[in-house]
Amino acid sequence: MKVIVTGGAGFIGSNLTRLMLENGYGVVVIDNLSTGSKDNLPEGVEFLNHDVSDGGITDVIARQKADFIFHLAAQIDVRKSLEDPVKDIETNTIGTINILNGIKKAGKGKIIFSSTGGAMYGECQEPAGEERRENPESPYGISKLSSEHYIKVYSRWFDIPHIIMRLANVYGPFQSMRGEAGVVAIFIEQILNKKKSKVFGFGDMERDYIYVKDVANAAYQLAVNVNNETVNISTRKSTSNLKLYKMLCDIMGVDYNYELAEERKGEIIKSVMDNKKLLSLIGDFTITPIEEGLGMTVEWYKNREVK
Ligand SMILES: NC(=O)c1ccc[n+]([C@@H]2O[C@H](COP(=O)([O-])OP(=O)(O)OC[C@H]3O[C@@H](n4cnc5c(N)ncnc54)[C@H](O)[C@@H]3O)[C@@H](O)[C@H]2O)c1
Repeated sequence: MKVIVTGGAGFIGSNLTRLMLENGYGVVVIDNLSTGSKDNLPEGVEFLNHDVSDGGITDVIARQKADFIFHLAAQIDVRKSLEDPVKDIETNTIGTINILNGIKKAGKGKIIFSSTGGAMYGECQEPAGEERRENPESPYGISKLSSEHYIKVYSRWFDIPHIIMRLANVYGPFQSMRGEAGVVAIFIEQILNKKKSKVFGFGDMERDYIYVKDVANAAYQLAVNVNNETVNISTRKSTSNLKLYKMLCDIMGVDYNYELAEERKGEIIKSVMDNKKLLSLIGDFTITPIEEGLGMTVEWYKNREVK
């Protein structure tokens, strides 16, 4: 069977690509390498350099006639979406419509879309369930929510099966040290290079951190076993950024070297997402405990550093 992974040269996409290859699928990666890198790709993948916001992508998708289309390519930076909302909606929403048109033209294929929990639910003191009213506060959240709606409309009128994954904060191997979402990667880079870390929100910002291999596994299981659902991919637990920083220092055996700072404009204090639906849809799903996931992530960065 054949799968397409858009954004497959990026952090989550390259982990998913590996998992699909291990499970015997033929994998075609479509990526414009704007934040991803070909170095992230394993052997045995077909790579196509295309921009999903370009209408020509529709025929590229149609020709592949893939069974599953994991659509991860996106502009993921909330601050950039505020600076240039047009670019954000072109990449995220128009890009998604182009992919949907390709699947429609192919006459086969199921779309598995990576949406966001944090930008969708906003501030949450208690774990947010999928039924919670969406409240995007950034162009990024709006473009992801409108993509979700387009997917549901195409699914309904053109019989395209779908899964919408609302991801929590993902961490693990292959995460870039640049950009918004990578606080784990940023802390590890600062600790490895003996720099002082800034812990925003005076250390009180809490996030639901999930290990990237659990996300890839969830995407795979949902693609194979479930149709037409919107599902949080999360741990239901939150960790403060100060605790996260200290855990990383303890794992790496170094002294703490940080300063507390005010949260940046537009940042929410607490985000945590329910995962009851995920666990009921895929029975034997195990969540990697954060200590273990951070340990494996640190090992990966250390080994990469010496290469
Ligand atoms: N990392 C997280 O914590 C997180 C949380 C919620 C949702 N998500 C979603 O998961 C997906 C993957 O995110 P990631 O963290 O792996 O980011 P990433 O930046 O590592 O990956 C995105 C990939 O998409 C590619 N890309 C960007 N614009 C493109 C375009 N116009 N055409 C073709 N390719 C393009 C990039 O080159 C990159 O390889 C995104 O849709 C993101 O919104 C991520």
